[in-house]
Amino acid sequence: MTEFNKSNWARAEFSRQYRDNADIFIVERERMLDILKSFYKHFLGDKRQNKILDLGCGDGILAHELLKVDDVISATLVDGSADMLGKARERLKGFKNVRFINASFQEIIEKDILQQDFDIIVSSLAVHHLDMAGKISLFRSLYAHLHPGGFFLNIDVILAPSGGLEQWYLKLWQEWMDNRKAEFGISDSLSDDIIHRYKDNKDNKPDTLDDQLDALKDIGFQEVDCFYKYGIFSIYGGRK
Ligand SMILES: C[S@@+](CC[C@H](N)C(=O)[O-])C[C@H]1O[C@@H](n2cnc3c(N)ncnc32)[C@H](O)[C@@H]1O
Repeated sequence: MTEFNKSNWARAEFSRQYRDNADIFIVERERMLDILKSFYKHFLGDKRQNKILDLGCGDGILAHELLKVDDVISATLVDGSADMLGKARERLKGFKNVRFINASFQEIIEKDILQQDFDIIVSSLAVHHLDMAGKISLFRSLYAHLHPGGFFLNIDVILAPSGGLEQWYLKLWQEWMDNRKAEFGISDSLSDDIIHRYKDNKDNKPDTLDDQLDALKDIGFQEVDCFYKYGIFSIYGGRK
């Protein structure tokens, strides 16, 4: 059995619950998507027919946001979950030049699954499912699959550098959830559980931002930086 098949994401019901609630519990999701689109327009907007890769695409939200900005993009979406890819297919059915690959990150690292290079590789809330050694191997594969000058941008949860900061970051998330609860009438069970479920889920293997930025620099990425941060939620990346 592969690593992916041992994870919760291999269960359609788990994927469905994520899709149903993601807009509610992901901190500032809309703002993070705005930052992604601004980054794309600023660095790639004047080029035509960019090739993009959305890694751990889920229902295709990132590729969709980029296609709204630039509908001649050629997009590749990869996910280990056939159920998620089915939802991504539905979401993107109006767009041409979109291909879907059902593969795990481990397969991307070990085999030549992607078979082309990209102008930008994006990912959201997926890379933290690999441990640090896995992240480094994945970053190396991604570097190899970027055109010179191409970008990697990752929206993801990170591990705080100390226990004290971790406690506060989780409290920040809880405070954000509490405000959402008041504003949108979200049930207590969803909002009160989410942080424990995140911490208790062995599929979540976040590493510190510093370790991930250092790994990108060691591999050869330039202009490596954190582009956004709110507690454990971050956007970081670099250029080949
Ligand atoms: C939290 S969801 C994020 C989905 C989407 N990117 C978003 O932002 O809504 C994580 C996604 O990563 C996929 N995933 C998790 N572990 C994976 C692995 N080892 N290989 C490939 N995909 C994986 C899951 O199937 C799921 O679609």
